[in-house]
Amino acid sequence: MSELTQLPAWQKLWDHFADAKQLHMRELFESDPERAERYGLEVGGLFLDYSKNRITDETLQGLMQLAREAGLPERIKSMFKGEKINTTENRAVLHVALRNRTNSPIFVDGEDVMPKVNSVLERMGKFAHAVRSGEWLGYTNQPITDIVNIGIGGSDLGPLMVCSALRPFGHPRMNMHFVSNVDGAQLKETLKKVHSETTLFVVESKTFTTQETLTNALTARDWFLQRARDEKAVAKHFVAVSTNQKAVADFGIDPSNMFEFWDWVGGRYSLWSAIGLPIMLYLGEENFTELLNGAHIMDQHFRNAPFEQNMPVLLAMIGIWYINYFGGGSHVIAPYDQYLHRLPAFIQQLDMESNGKQTRTDGSPVNFETAPIIWGETGINGQHAFFQLLHQGTHISPIDLIASLESRGSLPGHHEILLANVFAQAEAFMRGKTAEEVREELAAQGMKGEALEALVPHKVFAGNRPTNTLLMSFLDPRNLGSLIAAYEHKIFVQGVIWGINSFDQWGVELGKQLAKTIHGELTGKLKSAEHDSSTRRLIQLYRQANKSK
Ligand code: F6P
Repeated sequence: MSELTQLPAWQKLWDHFADAKQLHMRELFESDPERAERYGLEVGGLFLDYSKNRITDETLQGLMQLAREAGLPERIKSMFKGEKINTTENRAVLHVALRNRTNSPIFVDGEDVMPKVNSVLERMGKFAHAVRSGEWLGYTNQPITDIVNIGIGGSDLGPLMVCSALRPFGHPRMNMHFVSNVDGAQLKETLKKVHSETTLFVVESKTFTTQETLTNALTARDWFLQRARDEKAVAKHFVAVSTNQKAVADFGIDPSNMFEFWDWVGGRYSLWSAIGLPIMLYLGEENFTELLNGAHIMDQHFRNAPFEQNMPVLLAMIGIWYINYFGGGSHVIAPYDQYLHRLPAFIQQLDMESNGKQTRTDGSPVNFETAPIIWGETGINGQHAFFQLLHQGTHISPIDLIASLESRGSLPGHHEILLANVFAQAEAFMRGKTAEEVREELAAQGMKGEALEALVPHKVFAGNRPTNTLLMSFLDPRNLGSLIAAYEHKIFVQGVIWGINSFDQWGVELGKQLAKTIHGELTGKLKSAEHDSSTRRLIQLYRQANKSK
């Protein structure tokens, strides 16, 4: 594979960086009245303003050149064609097939995957309709009022984020619950709120081997059986979503109550598959289809638009500029929308589990930074918490500010305040405040002399802090679908540039293996295994604390 740091565009960007790092965005805006116009882009119902970045035309040309030299055009084709680009697992990567609304054939191992995608979607639709309409009845002939999703990681965060984001579109009878934590507390608290007669448990696990999910599912099943007292009732209250039919059957869920997906769907990319069943149960088939439609719009755009006007490519390459040239290892997701409060957690898994790697696809180590640390919170809450660091701290972390333009559905007077804050923050991060401006401001407040001068350095904002402003017309299924797909493709592009496989996750395995051994020791099933002194001591502390049990 080509050595990234040896590519001509990589070096050329370093030469350009020497000048570009000195530029202040204030000056860039002053010298180009068209900047916002030129550095803005609309795709479907999404608008991206990327003008408040430390970039010039030369930067963008260099970055797009880098994308071409790194083989991005070919890699995009490979993904959409169903080639096995997840090389360490020998799998295709086809979340795009799940929302391939044109139905054009996509082949994996010589088989068109579209018929099975459509058939599962149809089954999901029928099942969702039966549950939502009240036709599907529990063991005492009552309709379902509560859905408990049991899953973790990609089998939790996607459905959880989407159901939270699209709550205004949810079925009024349906209460959604999500249990991922194995600590017992989350399931216990959830079970306090639901009734066995009216609850449907959706057990979601790609592998159906995940300890946390299986433990929670078993406990939920016991809880249910203590109440229903009839094994046959389980079929009316437990369904599974998995790629592993055998494990589902072994667990005791009838395969006719299983919704299938395939190994070419990555866990963190799976909300479009049967893993989206809770979404469909809550929002209905039509809204789920709209979510797929929105993603499809972004897929088509990503596949066909020139890089210079390609939203995921722009987001990715501007990200590369900060990560690899400025050396900023963090990226903030700040949705200005309470309904999107789980978006930062969702993007965190999507990005960090995909690109948190240091080995390239050919097995060689990288010699540059890869995935940034993704973090965030709703923007308004962030403003009153960590934005201080973003404005005046020593880290420079790009921020995605995400909001809806229309005030539809908001309480009177609220949306204007919200959006005023989005725009004000973006402006403040860009402009900052000079010492001269601070002096004027303090003088106008009546301060002067030494007191004034002592305060000046504290009130100065360097500015020049990058933001992307991502605006939706309105947060609806279609626009959310486009937004998520834009992030998925952004992450793919960055993985391609770094030459890493964004679709495996070997890094999570070691902890799982060790936990199995230690669990055996804590439960007395295993004799003490070999550990370092710290781990031995921690195990000892556990034993002491639980001596009497
Ligand atoms: O341990 C990480 C991981 O494998 C994620 O990639 C995945 O989303 C999550 O665990 C859950 O896995 P599963 O759906 O197989 O239970």
